[in-house]
Amino acid sequence: MLDQVKSFISEIENAVAKTEQEVEDFRLKFIGRNNVINDLFETFKTVPKEQKKELGPALNKLKGLAQSKLKELSTSLQSTGISTGDVDVTLPGAYNTEGSIHPISQTRSRIIEIFERQGFNVEEGPEIDNDWNNFTALNFPENHPAREMQDTYFVTKTPDVLLRTHTSNVQVRLMNKKKPPIRSIMPGRVYRNEAISARAHCFFHQVEGLVVGENVSFRDLKNTLYHFAKEMFGKETKIRLRPSYFPFTEPSAEIDISCFICGGKGCKVCKGTGWVEIGGSGMVDPNVLKNCNIDPTKYSGFAFGMGVERITMLKYQIDDLRLFSENDIRFLKQF
Ligand code: PHE
Repeated sequence: MLDQVKSFISEIENAVAKTEQEVEDFRLKFIGRNNVINDLFETFKTVPKEQKKELGPALNKLKGLAQSKLKELSTSLQSTGISTGDVDVTLPGAYNTEGSIHPISQTRSRIIEIFERQGFNVEEGPEIDNDWNNFTALNFPENHPAREMQDTYFVTKTPDVLLRTHTSNVQVRLMNKKKPPIRSIMPGRVYRNEAISARAHCFFHQVEGLVVGENVSFRDLKNTLYHFAKEMFGKETKIRLRPSYFPFTEPSAEIDISCFICGGKGCKVCKGTGWVEIGGSGMVDPNVLKNCNIDPTKYSGFAFGMGVERITMLKYQIDDLRLFSENDIRFLKQF
């Protein structure tokens, strides 16, 4: 009889169940009402006393083992999902297709992050605005050729509703609602009526910056941009402010950074010059402050604007602007 007990013990220890039916068979054999262990307990009553000493514990072990094994078999079946019957466990797993953040959004976030750490807050304004906010308040006189530099999409001529050609409209709106000190950056999408090519598009993104306060100087502008350039493009980066013209700033300057690809030696990206342009800047023209009800004798300010596409193209050496708006997964998933 002891042999019988031992053989059941090893049978239980090695038992596996792949289906619910197999678990049930196990239960009927070892736990159910007419189970084999009960039979052994019946026989146990009739064996001579001296054998009971060894048989008793062995039988108890067998009973306990059967119960714990049953639990184990049914839980392992549930966790594999095999028991549900309508799940085909041989099918390959479902992949989680995770998207990536658009390169333009990545650059925009990085620019914002750098300026936020310099105490700038983020302001936003509408993409559809009027002539006053986009041009006139910014010191673009009526019929001035500077308006031609930015081919404008008009929604209606009267009243004058247009798609903003730059984020500078937010400067005007901000100065009208908030008095100095102002220290803000204004990211956003802008529109220009240009033929779409590898180098031009009818919409793109800018981040504009505006600082207005007492004694704000050109030196502050230069330091702010220099700090930004080093954070964005690397510690060795230098900046160069090249005299230029914008109606709303005086003096005005284009912002160049030393080419971070060749370190200024000259390469394909900087077309051999060692410098690449990333935006425009200047001291806010006193007329603009006046137009926004800020006293130019008390306050001064600087502003800058940069192209998000331009910076992204430089950074990743992308040579076609159209890639940003085509939503080609093969392009986007590289970022
Ligand atoms: N608004 C200018 C542009 O779109 C950029 C700029 C912003 C220049 C602020 C100077 C100051 O070209």
